[in-house]
Amino acid sequence: MKIKKAIIPAAGLGTRVLPASKSVPKEMLPLVDKPAIQYIVEEAVNAGIEEILVITNRDKTVMEDHFDRSPELEQKLAEAGKLDKLQIVLDVANMANIMYMRQKETKGLGHAVLIAKAFVGNEPFAVLYGDDVIIGEKPAIGQLCDAYDKFGLGVAGIKQVPEGDIYKYSSLAVEPLQDRTFKITNMIEKPQTPQEVLSLYSILGRCVLPPEIFDILEETPIGAGGELQLTDAMRTLTQRRGMVGVDYEGKRYDMGSK
Ligand code: UTP
Repeated sequence: MKIKKAIIPAAGLGTRVLPASKSVPKEMLPLVDKPAIQYIVEEAVNAGIEEILVITNRDKTVMEDHFDRSPELEQKLAEAGKLDKLQIVLDVANMANIMYMRQKETKGLGHAVLIAKAFVGNEPFAVLYGDDVIIGEKPAIGQLCDAYDKFGLGVAGIKQVPEGDIYKYSSLAVEPLQDRTFKITNMIEKPQTPQEVLSLYSILGRCVLPPEIFDILEETPIGAGGELQLTDAMRTLTQRRGMVGVDYEGKRYDMGSK
């Protein structure tokens, strides 16, 4: 089944990149000449996603402005004959069918996904974390969508992280399936002790999920950090149906950490 919808959660507080994120959302921090979220929207569009819902909040309206038309700027560029620059500005505004929804309280990534339930409806969908830019030839989310198609199971984008860092992320128990693809058998969000570490594989930045995840999220208790954790819901999904991990090709830039 073709994945047509994507959620970009971008309503987090970004405390790890203060003071940069105090008034500029971390999702708007640039890599060279584009804000992070533009790379992410481009990745989704290049993977054939047709509708995007950005989860935002009251302090992040600049993300909406970025993908909107900019009449005064466009007029000035047109009058000055700077048509190449004008095209850049127009391309951003016409990039995709983007919708926005506010997360009124920062209750966690799981909560940010849960409020998108009505947008998603009853079909599988992609999640692209708003602070994880992945640069590569093939869009990372497209690699996950292919795996969803092939296995018919939820798919997480996974990578190995340095040993000392695993406590900040999720940790997965995995079994190799085929090239870059794994069966996920268990997971834990932010392990506290070395005994809790299942492997150095962690879910990083991308997943493709069945709509069943919404029912699971509704029943999932508040987890690590006092937040509703998407990882906790994915663990239930893993136990019920199984999940697949794809060690995607591409270089990841975490805009949420220094
Ligand atoms: P993170 O946990 O990396 O973001 O969430 P954070 O909460 O902003 O981080 P710190 O710990 O305060 O630095 C991954 C993605 O999920 C979004 C974030 O914006 C980020 O893109 N998110 C997180 C939400 O949309 N809502 C939330 O309640 C939490």
